[in-house]
Amino acid sequence: MRVLVVGNGGREHALAWKIRQSPRLTRLWIAPGNAGTALEGENVAISADDIAGLVRFAKKESVDLVVVGPELPLTLGLVDALEQEGIRAFGPSRAAAQLEGSKVACKQALRKADVPTAEYQVFLDADSATRYVKARYPGERDKAALVVKADGLASGKGVIVCSRREQVLEAIDRMGRKMEFGKASLPMVIEERLEGQEVSVLAITDGRTILPLPPAQDHKAAYDGDQGPNTGGMGAYSPTPVIDAELLETVEDKILVPTIHTMKRSRKPFRGVLYAGLMLTNNGPKVLEYNVRFGDPECQPILMRLQSDLLDVLEATVDGRLGEIDAPIWDMRPSICVVMASAGYPGPYTTGQEITGLDAAAEIPDVKVFHAGTAMQDGKVVTTGGRVLGVTALGDSLALAKLNAYKAVKEIRWPGAWCRKDISDKASAHLLASGRGD
Ligand code: AMP
Ligand code: GLY
Repeated sequence: MRVLVVGNGGREHALAWKIRQSPRLTRLWIAPGNAGTALEGENVAISADDIAGLVRFAKKESVDLVVVGPELPLTLGLVDALEQEGIRAFGPSRAAAQLEGSKVACKQALRKADVPTAEYQVFLDADSATRYVKARYPGERDKAALVVKADGLASGKGVIVCSRREQVLEAIDRMGRKMEFGKASLPMVIEERLEGQEVSVLAITDGRTILPLPPAQDHKAAYDGDQGPNTGGMGAYSPTPVIDAELLETVEDKILVPTIHTMKRSRKPFRGVLYAGLMLTNNGPKVLEYNVRFGDPECQPILMRLQSDLLDVLEATVDGRLGEIDAPIWDMRPSICVVMASAGYPGPYTTGQEITGLDAAAEIPDVKVFHAGTAMQDGKVVTTGGRVLGVTALGDSLALAKLNAYKAVKEIRWPGAWCRKDISDKASAHLLASGRGD
């Protein structure tokens, strides 16, 4: 089987690494890939949002399956364009990808499916949003637990969580008047701010059968103890005790099943990975957002634990046969992924630094270093992005997995490299808080 993976992050390296283990694979390309994916297959210099270029390449090389990593090409209709040419692709259609591509479309789908989510209003311009907020919160110093969201993709920055009226009005101004997120700024959604613990549940679905993946937990804040600015994710681990079997069942019944069913009824069948960002409120789990792809870095520890052939699962999803294949087998051992980042990230960061110690790290058993922002330059691996590596390890316990991962982190160096030191500590904190600690 000839496979093309689209994207260049840690998630795509993990996908390529796992796909490469399939005995059915004959050739593997990654577009555009990074220095790590170049060791799993052949990198091709086509960017992930060059839809025409990707389709042309897939046709020329008679690719049997395209696996799309990031959301942008999905919302641009890459899967539709490939299917029009008779090329099979893993990921939702452009219409189904609107669950992530448009906050308004997402909220409408949730309402239609009767899935629990924050109460919301949609505004087409800043003036009507301002009038609404001023009418609801007449006092200038009023508290206002609201969240303002830009409709379109804004690299995770288009959501402003507010506590006071003046913050809400400022957020409306930034989105609706200054158009800070360009075309993505309007319409905007204003919704109630939910309180609780945030978790995510990922599931693979062919539009009928839903296969929840082992739960993983991301660490979005830049610094230890969840301090500092938001990032794409500084590390993840799996499984997480935060989501137990009972909660997973509730999420499946009340959230995933009605969403997938509604998408089908609306003639936008959803195929691919549905990633539900949830808030565990006092009234049960509620959807904060949907993503239409694997999480990055959640994908890395999840795939590290997959023992079955990933190609079988991806192919069955594309062909609508997910209900017919054996359930995938997962390694019982926990896994953790520690993201190593460039100096300055998530703000402006330095690049072009040579990375050393990758070979020594690779020799540690049960460790795999997934590349994200890296490239080969004159025979050396150099940094090209903010999130550079996802150092991923298995262990007999979460503590041992953590030890393995940080042992590998210690081997790897470049000027300014840094990482969080507390990835997976949330698990023990949760167990302690729920009286299950050891
Ligand atoms: P989103 O892209 O919609 O997930 O929003 C990004 C982040 O904003 C989430 O991960 C939450 O931390 C936060 N957030 C979004 N919506 C809400 C809400 N209704 N209440 C509280 N926090 C929210
Ligand atoms: N790790 C969060 C995301 O992929 O959106």
